[in-house]
Amino acid sequence: MATPPPEPGRIPRHLAVIMDGNGRWAQQRHRPRAIGHRAGARAVNLCIDFCLEKGIGALTVFAFSSENWGRPEDEVGALMKLFMNALEREVAELHRRGVRIAFIGERERFASAIRARMDQAEALTAGNTRLALNIAASYGGRQDIAAAARSLAEDVAAGRLRPEQIDEALFGSRVALSGLPAPDLFIRTGGDCRISNFLLWQLAYTELWFTETLWPALDAATLQRALDDYASRERRFGLTGAQVAGPQHEVSA
Ligand code: IPE
Ligand code: IPE
Ligand code: MG
Repeated sequence: MATPPPEPGRIPRHLAVIMDGNGRWAQQRHRPRAIGHRAGARAVNLCIDFCLEKGIGALTVFAFSSENWGRPEDEVGALMKLFMNALEREVAELHRRGVRIAFIGERERFASAIRARMDQAEALTAGNTRLALNIAASYGGRQDIAAAARSLAEDVAAGRLRPEQIDEALFGSRVALSGLPAPDLFIRTGGDCRISNFLLWQLAYTELWFTETLWPALDAATLQRALDDYASRERRFGLTGAQVAGPQHEVSA
């Protein structure tokens, strides 16, 4: 997971999104929550189109959290059906457009038919380079960190690793998305200003942006507002503003 320097182009290299508000969108229309999830699936396509158009190289979307398994059975069932449908319908077209699909999260919790489709989507699109689309499904940031700690502990127990070799870089190589730059920009729709156990390790220096817009109501103008806001921010990574502006602006103490 690369850290600074920040990119000069001001387009995020990696966008991370919490797609929230499907249930409320449906409830506002006096429809079942599952209808909101269906509408939400359309918004995912809009977001992918936007990233392709803007040249954003990586998009990570939170589709289903580890904690979402605790929702009512009929809602989880509807989400699984939608997930399966989306895998059946969308993957070929994404492949045609140069999208590399990867899933992060506890895949073993899904039914075998869904797992097989996930594996197929990853294998089919593995060689694509235009957009890395990561779908966080049955994902939890704490679970991700705990799994990394467990894998390091196993290496230590087996004598393959010494504890003093464990540093940020090694730990970071064991969490999800380790092959990508950390997200530059995080967007959460739905009006709640929280992380909800999304990418805890990976978001350390990510710029956060929240909107009241409910996920199914997402449009390109809203995404553009997030990008414009991102472009106007100064990312300091713990340094001073003068340091970040470059040597000609540095004032000695
Ligand atoms: C996000 O929308 C989708 C999932 C969590 C699967 P919600 O279903 O959380 O919608 P709200 O937040 O209840 O409106
Ligand atoms: C986060 O949304 C998870 C996804 C969008 C998949 P939630 O709706 O589950 O988050 P909370 O419960 O409001 O924190
Ligand atoms: Mg929600």
